[in-house]
Amino acid sequence: MNQPIPVILDCDPGHDDAMAILLAAANPAVELLGITTVSGNGSLDKVTYNAQRICTLAGIAPPIARGANDPLVGKASAAPTIHGASALDGAELPEPAYDVSPLSAVELIAELVRECDRPVTLIPTGPMTNIASFLLAHPELHSRIEKISFMGGSVTRGNWTPYAEFNIWADPEAADVVLTSGLPIVMTGLNVSHMALATPEVLDRIDALGTHLATTCVDLLKFFAHTYRDVFGMPDPPLHDPVAVACVIDPSIVSTEFLPVSIELNGTLTRGATVVDVHSVTGREANVHVAMDLNVDRFWNMMMDSIRDLG
Ligand code: BDR
Ligand code: CA
Repeated sequence: MNQPIPVILDCDPGHDDAMAILLAAANPAVELLGITTVSGNGSLDKVTYNAQRICTLAGIAPPIARGANDPLVGKASAAPTIHGASALDGAELPEPAYDVSPLSAVELIAELVRECDRPVTLIPTGPMTNIASFLLAHPELHSRIEKISFMGGSVTRGNWTPYAEFNIWADPEAADVVLTSGLPIVMTGLNVSHMALATPEVLDRIDALGTHLATTCVDLLKFFAHTYRDVFGMPDPPLHDPVAVACVIDPSIVSTEFLPVSIELNGTLTRGATVVDVHSVTGREANVHVAMDLNVDRFWNMMMDSIRDLG
């Protein structure tokens, strides 16, 4: 058996971030070295508390470090309409069994990357402020990064503005730093994450696992379904963030195209858009492996295994 791939999850839990934590913690193909938090789906305090509570619920204890409260430029804006007032509404969650790290997110990422005996994969599933700050502060550690698999953007349209997906919209300058870093990048955008729908059949499968964790996941996903119906009119909610983890566990779960992707930093209507040059008309160098399709059955099997294995 190959050694597991060391990963750091940088997230803003958030219902789908919570499921990404479970997948990264449980799947034996990856080793979750640590979790860093960033304001996005809620304030930094809320999403950090949520990461602690999800880890406690799942009986795992990776180090958790607090990251950025605001984007590289300007002030944070949260997404309470989707994830509720706590940023993780819908279920009773335990109080944290352990404290956050005294290190900042950037310090923890640097320490974990420096100390790991193999190159580390970074998985941002929120605004990419922490990851950009780490890359800017530690150019000497770039060679220790295997790749960055992020959830954000879209090949098609956005969800927070007509052209911008929430994670990129929340910190376009950070996304630009990451995408121009020269590191190997995999993008899971809305065009693919909207295939990972938590349908009633999926909820039944989770429920049938019969554990407290499974029941809690179902409660969380029912809340998420409710807000997705109200806000976007979608019958089932897309579980965006775990797809970026699944791409690391098994890259063949998505088909990708290596394409030029740029972030719109200005634009009167389009700030935060991911400009994906699908037909190579700009002459720009390809910089991102863009997910174009997802094996939905294998994705949900992976999620089921994780929830079952965490007990
Ligand atoms: C992204 O935004 C957040 O609401 C989700 O957690 C996901 O990371 C989808 O646009
Ligand atoms: Ca997220």
